[in-house]
Amino acid sequence: MRTCYSGLVSAAHLDQIVTLTGWAHRRRDHGGVIFIDLRDREGLVQVVCDPDRAETFAVAESVRNEFCLKVVGKVRRRPEGTTNANLISGEVEVLCHELEVLNPSVTPPFQLDDDNLSETVRLTHRVMDLRRPYMQKIMQLRYRTARAFRRFLDDQGFIDIETPMLTKSTPEGARDYLVPSRVHDGQFFALPQSPQLFKQMLMVAGFDRYYQLTKCFRDEDLRADRQPEFTQVDIETSFLTETEITAIMEEMFRTVFKEAADIELPNPFPRISYADAMAKYGSDKPDLRVTLEFTELTDVMKSVEFKVFAGAANMEGGRVAALKIPGGAALSRGEIDAYTQFVGIYGAKGLAYIKVNEVAKGRDGLQSPIVKNMPDDVLSTIIARSGAVDGDLIFFGADKEKIVNDALGALRTKIGHEKGHVDGRTWAPVWVVDFPMFEYDDEGKRWNACHHPFTSPKDEHIDLLTTDPGKCLAKAYDLALNGYEVGGGSVRIHREDVQSKVFAAIGLSKEEAELKFGFLLDALKYGAPPHGGLAFGLDRIVMQLAGTDSIRDVIAFPKTQRAQCLLTQAPSPVDEKQLRELHIRLRNVQPAA
Ligand code: AMO
Ligand code: AMP
Repeated sequence: MRTCYSGLVSAAHLDQIVTLTGWAHRRRDHGGVIFIDLRDREGLVQVVCDPDRAETFAVAESVRNEFCLKVVGKVRRRPEGTTNANLISGEVEVLCHELEVLNPSVTPPFQLDDDNLSETVRLTHRVMDLRRPYMQKIMQLRYRTARAFRRFLDDQGFIDIETPMLTKSTPEGARDYLVPSRVHDGQFFALPQSPQLFKQMLMVAGFDRYYQLTKCFRDEDLRADRQPEFTQVDIETSFLTETEITAIMEEMFRTVFKEAADIELPNPFPRISYADAMAKYGSDKPDLRVTLEFTELTDVMKSVEFKVFAGAANMEGGRVAALKIPGGAALSRGEIDAYTQFVGIYGAKGLAYIKVNEVAKGRDGLQSPIVKNMPDDVLSTIIARSGAVDGDLIFFGADKEKIVNDALGALRTKIGHEKGHVDGRTWAPVWVVDFPMFEYDDEGKRWNACHHPFTSPKDEHIDLLTTDPGKCLAKAYDLALNGYEVGGGSVRIHREDVQSKVFAAIGLSKEEAELKFGFLLDALKYGAPPHGGLAFGLDRIVMQLAGTDSIRDVIAFPKTQRAQCLLTQAPSPVDEKQLRELHIRLRNVQPAA
C-alpha cells in the first residue's frame, strides 16, 4: 500500500514518486493551495495539493484532522525559507498526484498537538492520546529498552521461562489482587506480586540462569512512580556471588542505555552502604547528582536547652541532622516558609535554620530563631562539622529518624535541583548495598524482612539472627538512578537451617511457614544451589529515559492514581450469574443487572 513511512521521506527521495499512508495531522488552506501534514508513527511530511489536479484538490478540501489517507506524489525540494530542521522530511514536500481517503474521522476529542491536556482527558481517549508523536516516541523507546534487556540476557545465556499468573500469594509485602476460583468454592488465586518463589524453584530445578519480562500486580497506594500492574525485568542466577551478580547487571545497564538511548553510563557504578546513604542523604535511593549532604548532630544536641532538639537527640530512634545550603543566607522569608511547609508533608513539625552571616563574629554573626538556646561550643561544632562559611544557611531536622530522613532527604533533592546544587551529571546510578535484614514494625511490635524473607544474611551475621536481629545485615542490593529505585535483589537463603532462623526472627512459626511457603522449603531440601538475583522496574527505567515524572506516560494503557482504567471503565460491576458461578455474594453493593 505504501513505499515508505511518511515521517521518513527525505532529500534521498528527491524527484521520486512515493506512495504514503497516514493521518491528516493538520490541513491548511492557503487560498488556492492546500497543505496537509501527513503523519505516521515515524513523523510528518508536508503534502501539497494544488488546484491543477481538480479531482485530488476536491478530495483535499474534504479532508479533516485525523482522516486516514493514502497519497501518491512526487518528492520535491521545499521553497527557500520554508524548510523545517526539526523534521527528517524538513527539506522536502510531496506534490500530491492522487489522494484517497481510506477512512474519515469524526472530530477528535482534542488537537493532537495540544500539550496542555488533562490526564483525565488523555486517559479517557487513550487511543487518540497514543497517536500523539509524544506517546509514539515513548512507546518505541519502551520497546527498544525491553529489546535491549532481552538481547543482553539472551547473549549471556539467560533463559526466558514463564511463571504462572494464577498463583498463590508471594511475599513482597503489598496487598494481593485475588481471583476467585469457580471450580473450588471459596478459594482464590492471587496474581503474582513478583515471580520470586518460582524463579528460586527454577534455580533448584537446575536452569542456572533465568529471566523474564513479566507483569507483577500489587494492590498498594499509588504514587507518581507506581502502578497496580507493572513490568519487571526479573532475573535469577545460580553459583554467583553478590559481587558477580551486580557486575553482570551493571554491564547490562550500560549496554541497555547505550543501545536504547545512546547514553553512556559510568563504569563502574559507585557503591554506597545503606547506613552511609541514610546518614548522608536520608534516603536509600539518593539522587547523587545533588551535592548537598547531611551533617550529623544527634550527639551534640543531647543537653541543649532547645527542647525540640534535645528531645529528639535523647529519644530512642531519634535523630538531629542539619542540611547546609551554600549561599542559602540569601533565601527569603517566603522561601523558607515554603520549604517549612514542604517538609511538613513528610511529618516534620518545623524547619529550624541558621543564617550564617559572618562566622568570624561567632554567635553574633548567626541569624536564627534558635541560637539563643544553644551554647557556644554547640554552635561552633555545627559550623565546623557542616563546613559552613559566610553566606550559607543551615536547616535542621529533629524527630524520629525516619521523619528526619524523609523530610530533610526530600528537601535536599528539592533545593538541590531548584538552586542548582548539582554536579552537572545527567545520569547518576548507584548501588546501595549492605541493607539491614529486618526493620522494626512499631505498630505490629515485631521485625519484618526489609527485602523479603528469602534474602540471605551476611555470612558473618548469621548468629545475630537469634541474638540481635536489628544489627543483622543482608546480602541485598538496590540500584538507584537519579533518586529512583530502579531495581533490587539479593542473594537468597539456600539452606533450610538459615531459612528457619529467619522465619523465627520475623515471628513466623514452623507451621505458618509450612502453610505459606512449604513448596519452596521442600524444594530447598533437594540440594538447592547457592543462588540470587534481582528485578528491575522496566516502567521506571523507561520513565527516566523518556524524561517524564509520570509512570502513566510510559504504559500504553495505564491505571489512574485511583487504580482505574478510564478507557475501558475497569474495574466494573459484573452480573449476578457470573458472581453466582464464582460462589460470591456481595456485601453492600448491588451488582449491575
Ligand atoms: P521489588 O519489590 O524491589 O523486588 O521490585 C523490583 C522493582 O520493581 C519496581 N516496582 C514497581 N514499579 C512500578 N510500580 C510498582 N508498584 C512497583 N513496585 C516495584 C521497582 C523495584 O525496584 N522479587 C523481588 C526482586 C528480587 O529479589 O529478585 C522484587 O520484586 O523499580
Ligand atoms: P518553636 O520553638 O516551635 O517556635 O520553633 C523554633 C524553630 O524550630 C522554628 O523555626 C521551627 O520551624 C523549628 N522546629 C520546630 N520543630 C522542629 C523539628 N522537629 N525539627 C526541626 N525544626 C523544628
